[in-house]
Amino acid sequence: MTWPTIDKDPARLLRPPNVADYDELRAGFCWEDARAALDGLPNGAGLNIAHEAVDRHAAGARAEQTAIRWLGKHDDVRDISYRELAELTGRFANVLEDLGVAAGERVFLLLGRVPSLYIAALGALKHRAVISPMFSAFGPEPIRQRMEIGEGRVLVTSRRLYERKVAGIRDQLPSLKHVLIVDGEDGTPPGTLDLEALLADASPDHTIAPTDPEDRALVHFTSGTTGQPKGAVHVHEAVVAHTATGRFALDLQDDDIYWCTADPGWVTGTSYGIIAPLALGVTMIVDEAEYDTERWYTILEEQRVSVWYTAPTAIRMLMKAGDEPRAGRDLSALRFIASVGEPLNPAAVVWGQEAFGLPIHDNYWQTETGGIMIANLAASEVRPGSMGRPLPGIEAGIVHRTGDDDDPGVEVEDAPDVEGELALRAGWPSMFRTYLDQDVRYARCFRDGWYLTGDLARRDADGFLWFLGRSDDFIKSAGHLIGPTEVEATLTAHDAVVEAGVIGIPDPMAGEVVKAFVTLYPGVEATDELMRDLHGFARKRLGPAVAPREIAVVDSLPKTRSGKIMRRLLKARELGLPEGDLSTLEGEPGTPGASDSRPGPAGPAEEAPS
Ligand code: PRX
Repeated sequence: MTWPTIDKDPARLLRPPNVADYDELRAGFCWEDARAALDGLPNGAGLNIAHEAVDRHAAGARAEQTAIRWLGKHDDVRDISYRELAELTGRFANVLEDLGVAAGERVFLLLGRVPSLYIAALGALKHRAVISPMFSAFGPEPIRQRMEIGEGRVLVTSRRLYERKVAGIRDQLPSLKHVLIVDGEDGTPPGTLDLEALLADASPDHTIAPTDPEDRALVHFTSGTTGQPKGAVHVHEAVVAHTATGRFALDLQDDDIYWCTADPGWVTGTSYGIIAPLALGVTMIVDEAEYDTERWYTILEEQRVSVWYTAPTAIRMLMKAGDEPRAGRDLSALRFIASVGEPLNPAAVVWGQEAFGLPIHDNYWQTETGGIMIANLAASEVRPGSMGRPLPGIEAGIVHRTGDDDDPGVEVEDAPDVEGELALRAGWPSMFRTYLDQDVRYARCFRDGWYLTGDLARRDADGFLWFLGRSDDFIKSAGHLIGPTEVEATLTAHDAVVEAGVIGIPDPMAGEVVKAFVTLYPGVEATDELMRDLHGFARKRLGPAVAPREIAVVDSLPKTRSGKIMRRLLKARELGLPEGDLSTLEGEPGTPGASDSRPGPAGPAEEAPS
């Protein structure tokens, strides 16, 4: 079915959008101008994200404006003005200095969405430390891997998260020197420090030292194909793109009340849940609680949210909840809704139009791109199912890879409606600068000046881009990008499992969920008890967002002659799709799913969407 284009209802635009004429803006745009529109550190001392997001507002007309309105799980509310935020982050920067943490060293954050998370992130950036926020629902294994690869020097966390997830792996993290506990008023675990006490003793005044725009600011880990997560490195210059894209793609304007539902443990929650809104000086809502239909509508209504950035899984959950929870509510403040992270089905776009009088504006980007690349804009028509068009300053191409690793090239597709790999012309400010310690892998992402996304797409004759799928085995579940190898490695760490092959299978709510096929050691029986144990084992180590929803025991896994598990074939068989080229298939594979397939206790669909 093709979905009709949605033209904008001028009455619901409420005010003129930032981008009135896409073509005109695009033609006249350059990144140098966007950079010049920012403040920069005083006396030409460079560019620092925390200065743009906090200090310059604290020193200006916005000082007393609420920067963050925090809504606690237990209905407590805390407003933090830009002035207060400058003081609190100044204290945090001074704490790092007093601890002897050097610029460039890594500060990991393992916290729920509590004020300390935002204070620590921005305070560390002031100190020119490099921040790496982690999702608090991760299990110990993803935490250990990330802190090891990132050589975390400082960890900011809560007492509970520390005791449950870090204390047991601390001896495997030799570079971790300081653990700062945000809720240590009733005592802190051995080997940790009470952050509140340190903040109270520190001065609120902090002058940001000269910061080169190319200085590292953030490391965001993303799933890797080899089982090890990759640390995508971003620099302070990225704030140029965060600001410009927040203006163009989210249409953020001066007096907006903005709510980004993503957790800062994922890139969306940092780029657009901390940096862009604050750099643009709006008031942002932070909700500590997880998804809840009533609560979300109440926040939209009572907080008078005007711009809302969320995820397809969340939209589908709201759709499923029906009209009743929305009935009688005053949602008239809402003027723009955007979503990201996974395919947004056309029905969801249209549902937005019915439910709010506003379509959902899909946009596209990746951890590596640091900021939004392709978007449906406030003033433009929306073609349901399309990701929109490239933002000003972004050139997107549909390409075909040519040559090989020794002579890599691309052929750019000019014809409309042809499937190819989505590529972006390298050089925008928030582009990742490397993968931590993996320069070769980084270099392999680029060909002929294009960054290759690994996503398949097509462009229609009017320049709108349509997502078609990934070109690799990655799984997108509730917006979380999951590398199958990471899951396979954990499953095979279980005493009963010989081999594991992991794929994504379609799910109406989460887009995809993780399904694992495992083979067991001879003599081991796939009893209910073993299956429960296996699910629990995976969930404990990986966390519920990453652990498999279903585990099937099979006699053998299809492999190439060189011994690689053929996930493509597992998937084709699971879904009853054509099996494609089997010329590299080794021997006689078992039939996946045939012997014993059982769902786990709960899956990613019940998790908060990222
Ligand atoms: O496959 C694309 C999908 O999410 C991937 C990036 O995931 P991650 O690095 O976790 O970044 C999430 C923050 C944006 C992409 O390679 N993806 C992202 N946006 C869309 C999407 N797939 C379809 N439609 C989108 N709008």
